[in-house]
Order: sequence, then structure tokens, then C-alpha cells
Amino acid sequence: MAVDATWGIVVAWIHYIAIMSFLACLLGEHLLLKQDMTLAQARTLQRLDILYGLSATVVLITGILRMYLEKGFAYYLHHGAFHILLTLFVVIGVLSIYPTVMFLRWRNDTRENRVPQMPPKQFKNIQMILRVEMTLLLIAPLFAAWMAHAEF
Ligand code: HEM
Repeated sequence: MAVDATWGIVVAWIHYIAIMSFLACLLGEHLLLKQDMTLAQARTLQRLDILYGLSATVVLITGILRMYLEKGFAYYLHHGAFHILLTLFVVIGVLSIYPTVMFLRWRNDTRENRVPQMPPKQFKNIQMILRVEMTLLLIAPLFAAWMAHAEF
């Protein structure tokens, strides 16, 4: 097997694992987020959000590597589906800023063994953002498959 093909397979594998982890973190955050959380749940949520950020970074890095290893940058940069995929990825990233900032603000509380308090409006907003992010993430593979399989 050619060296390039081996790298292509390995990088594709990491791309998929990172995507699975990305979605798993979002789902985990959504399931854990409650108006009346325990301290342990709040801490797990904070850790999940760090893993979420790492997963997103790996998705991006392996995505860029795949552009090079699969069909070359020019192919993807001229493909509408790639631009939609990238836009979805950026929108998910921008949406995640608000929950991440909130979870970071909980740090003082969780360090001092206090359960972070959320006003009901903030809880609803974070819950809705996580739902929208998950929905966009489920739409994204459609455009990935499109750019991989058809040249228009
Ligand atoms: C929103 C998160 C993402 C999801 C859910 C996702 C999903 C996928 C899937 C399912 C495939 C396989 C497509 C197929 O072979 O049918 C794929 C391939 C690929 N993805 Fe991602 N991806 C994401 C983000 C990215 C980003 C941000 C980039 C680039 C910066 C990227 C670049 C690529 C490339 C170049 C391929 C290979 C396409 C080919 O075989 O020609 N992906 N992605």
C-alpha cells in the first residue's frame, strides 16, 4: 500500500473519531445540563466542554490534512458543498462561545465546592444552543459526502 494511502486512511479514521467525540460531548453536555445540577455534574460538564474544544480542533486539523491528502486544496475550495460544510462548522463554533464562557465562569464556584447557579433564562439559552449545535452537526456530513462523491 502506498504511503500516501496509509496516511489518508489514518487521518480519515482520526477525522471520524473526532467527529464522534464532538457529537458525544454535545450530547453529554445536553444530558447533564440541569437547572438543579450536583457539583459532580457541573464539574463533568466543564470537563466535557474542554474535550469538546479539543475534538473540534482535531476535526479541523484532520479536515485540512484530508484536503491535502484526498483531492487537493483546489478541488475543495471550488466546491460549494465544502463552503457550506465549513460555514456549518464555523457557526457551530461561534454558537459554542456562550456556553463555554458560562462553564468557564463556573470555575470559581466548582473550585470552592459550590454548585454553580444559573438563572432559568440562561439555562434555557444554553440548552437551546446545544440543541441547535447538535442539529447543525447532523446536517454537516451530508455536505461532506456531497463534496467527496460529486464534483459540483
Ligand atoms: C462539521 C464537522 C464535520 C463533519 C461532521 C465532517 C464529516 C465528514 C465525513 C462524514 C466525511 C466522509 C465523507 C465521505 O467520504 O462520504 C468527511 C470527509 C472529509 N472532511 Fe469532514 N467533516 C467535518 C468538518 C470538516 C472540516 C472543518 C473540514 C476542512 C477544513 C473537513 C474536510 C474534509 C475532507 C477534505 C474530507 C474528505 C473528502 C473526500 O474524500 O474527498 N471536514 N467529513
